[in-house]
This record gives sequence, C-alpha cells and structure tokens, in this order.
Amino acid sequence: MAEETLSLVGPAFLKGEVTVSGSKNLALPLLATVPLFSSKFVFCNVPNILDVHIMLRTLSSMGIDFSWRGNTLELDCCKLRYIDLISPALSELRASFLFVASFLSRFGHAVIKKPGGDQIGDRPVDIHLEGLKSLGYEANFEGDVIRFRRVRQVSDAEFVLKYPSVGATEQLIIASVVGSGRKVFRNIATEPEVKHLISWLSSCGGKINLYPEQRVVEIESVSFLSAQQAFFVPGDRIEGITWLLAGLLCGNDEIVVKGVYYEDLDNVSGLFKSLGVQFQEDKIISKRLNGFANLNIVAEPYPGFPTDAQPMMAVLLSQGLGVGKIKDNVFPNRFAYLSELSKLGLQFEFKENTTIIVGPQKLTGNEVVARDIRAGIALVLAGLIASGTTSIKQVNHLRRGYELLETKLLSLGAKVLSDQSLEYVF
Ligand code: EPZ
Repeated sequence: MAEETLSLVGPAFLKGEVTVSGSKNLALPLLATVPLFSSKFVFCNVPNILDVHIMLRTLSSMGIDFSWRGNTLELDCCKLRYIDLISPALSELRASFLFVASFLSRFGHAVIKKPGGDQIGDRPVDIHLEGLKSLGYEANFEGDVIRFRRVRQVSDAEFVLKYPSVGATEQLIIASVVGSGRKVFRNIATEPEVKHLISWLSSCGGKINLYPEQRVVEIESVSFLSAQQAFFVPGDRIEGITWLLAGLLCGNDEIVVKGVYYEDLDNVSGLFKSLGVQFQEDKIISKRLNGFANLNIVAEPYPGFPTDAQPMMAVLLSQGLGVGKIKDNVFPNRFAYLSELSKLGLQFEFKENTTIIVGPQKLTGNEVVARDIRAGIALVLAGLIASGTTSIKQVNHLRRGYELLETKLLSLGAKVLSDQSLEYVF
C-alpha cells in the first residue's frame, strides 16, 4: 500500500473544544502488566492507536483474549501461556521491553528481541538489565535476542538507578510487585505515568510506597494481584500540551482543552500560565499569543520540562520575539526534526544538545517527513501556521500515538486531509 500523506492548509484559525485521549505512555506499561494477572479485568479510556494495537497483538499471541467497547478494553488472562517475545513489530516498540518484567515475575524466564535505537537516539537498556540483576535475573545476549532467567531467589533487594529512566523504573516496579520480600529503588523516574502505574498496581493489591521528592519507591511484594475495579487511563499530558500549543499558535478564538489531569501538567503549568493559558476547574483555555519574548526551554527528567514536548516548542519559539533556546538533557540527539522544519523555512542554529531559534519567522508549506511521533506532531503544528499546503509523509509515526488526529483538527476548524484516512476504527 502506498505511504500515507497528511496535508494541511495554513495558516489555520482554530477555535472550539477538544478532549485529549488516554495517555499512550501509560497505556503501554499498563498493558505490559497484564501477564501478572490470571483473571478478567477492564481498562477504560484506552487510546485506540497503533502502539496499543501492537501490544494487544502480542497479548493475544500469549493466549489473552481482549475486546473493545468504544475506548473500554476488556481483557481475559485465564489462558495465558509463555511465548518468546521475538516478533519484528515488538522490537520496534520500545515499551514492549516491559513484558520482560511481567514474564520474569510470572514464568522466571523471558526471551525478547533487543529493542532497536531510533531517531531520538541510541536507547540502551543497561539500567533495566542492572536493575533486574539486583532482583536475581541474568541476561545473556545471543545476536539480537536477550535471554533472561532467574539465577537467584531474591527476597529483599535495594538498587540505585544511575539515571532516572522512566522505562527502567517501570520495569523494576512491575518485576517486583508480585513475589516476596521488600524492594527499594532509588533515583527513580517520577513522571506522572510512573505514578499512575503505581496507582493501578496498588488498586489491585500491590503494596507500593512512592516518595517522589526523594526519588524512592519501596515495594512489599505480594503473593498475587487481583483487579477489583475498572482502571481509567488518565488523559495524555503530551497531547494536552499539543492542543495548548495549537491554541497559542493559531487560536483565533479560545481553544478549550479537556481531559488532562492538572497534576500531570504541574511541571509546565507555570510556563503556560505566563503565556496566558488559563487553567480553570475542568478545562484549560488557550488562545493566540502575539509578540511574546522568546523562551529558554531545557528538557529534563520530571519535574523538568518533558522531552516529548520539546520538538513542538521549536514551532512556538519560531513565533517568539528574539532569541529562543531549546536544550534536551534527556535525549540529547532528539533534534532530527529541525531539518524537516527547515523545509518550511524555519531557521535555526545547533550546538551540542541545544538549538537556537531567533523569531519571529514566517513559515511556508512544503513536503516534509515525520521521522518519529513527536517530530511528526511538531510538523503538524508548523503546518498549521505555515502559509499554503504542508504535506507530511510517514504519517504512521503519528498513528502510533495520536488518536483521531484529523477528526480533532477538523473539529477545531483546521483544513486537513489524509490521502488514505487510516485513522483506526473500532
Ligand atoms: C519513555 O521512554 C517514553 N516512552 C518516551 O516517550 C519519553 O521520551 C521518555 O520516557 C522520557 O520521558 C514510553 O513511555 C513508552 P528513558 P523510555 O528510559 O522509558 C537513557 C514518546 O515520544 N537510558 O527515561 O525509553 C536513555 O538513552 C516517547 O512518546 C539509558 O542510558 O525513556 C535516555 O537518554 C519516546 N539506559 C534517558 O535514559 C537505560 O537502560 C531517558 O530514557 C534506559 C535509558
């Protein structure tokens, strides 16, 4: 099938209300916990996106039945069986590496393809492996496959992550929640998705205490988990930031954003309030910002500015007055999107892990390529403010994480068209 292209005609004048979908980066680790269970349970507000489909396909190949009702996902783990996790689609989806934790907990061994690097950098798994070693699991590499097995029965364990990796933190929590003894992990990631993952496991009987200020989690392993009630996946904070930025860039009138938990945006709300965004009781209101002094953004682990939103900030900085800067301390190489933005006329300088953008600049539509999900959404925002038609190729990257993207853009008044309309239907 020919590659899908998404075309936008700008400049756009947007207004209206948009509700964010459930969080991608929470839904994926939630699905990785499924092999810990032996019963039926329900997740609500699950985003119907490509990455979720890849996780579900894998669950299905382990014997887990699932069915969708709208965004409600019913799962039945009664017939779970062991499989090697080596399908090609899985190794492209980094979150699938979290199946290692639930497999080790459940079966004591796991075989998985090493996750590949991608556009945003190398993406090593050394912290995952060191942490799992502290829990008694050994990893052996055979080509691009990693074989894990339990070599020691570990009851109590303590491990310090050398960097607060989100994935490694989730891996260790999922691997430790069921078993025996007490586990303490230090220098952990405290992103909202980690907190929500802990809420889910706790609601199923997990005994997990999080001390976010100290970056510590303490786990009293329990003998089994049992889901008592449906778990609602909170709105995607990065999608929330996307619509706030769409409002700041082209909100002809107000854009009202619903469905994001305010606490999940507490690390960016100060910045956005200073740009005029209003955080009201059950909605966030954003509208066009004219003539603002340019910004200095540094992406850091939470509570720093989120790396996943920094590519979109480049588009905002192109409209600020004077010198704007973006530095990424999480993924220092996450700047490949700049060469695509430059095809729309964006000028920048780049030194080490920092880009300098002097605004305001005029952007003009052109053909561009979405090289990863966040690069893709930055191109969508740029296409909204550029004059003329912007055609984005490799839209599959956007399909990995943005549910109903065209539907939401159209409802806000954007002129947008896919040549294949591959949005997922239930
Ligand atoms: C999660 O990736 C997210 N993915 C990413 O979202 C997000 O960008 C990232 O966290 C940071 O917030 C999911 O939740 C599915 P990390 P993760 O481990 O867990 C280094 C998006 O666009 N590191 O916190 O893989 C690593 O190289 C995505 O939605 C090691 O050195 O990120 C990076 O520099 C993409 N060794 C830094 O830590 C390790 O063993 C942060 O990575 C693990 C990580």
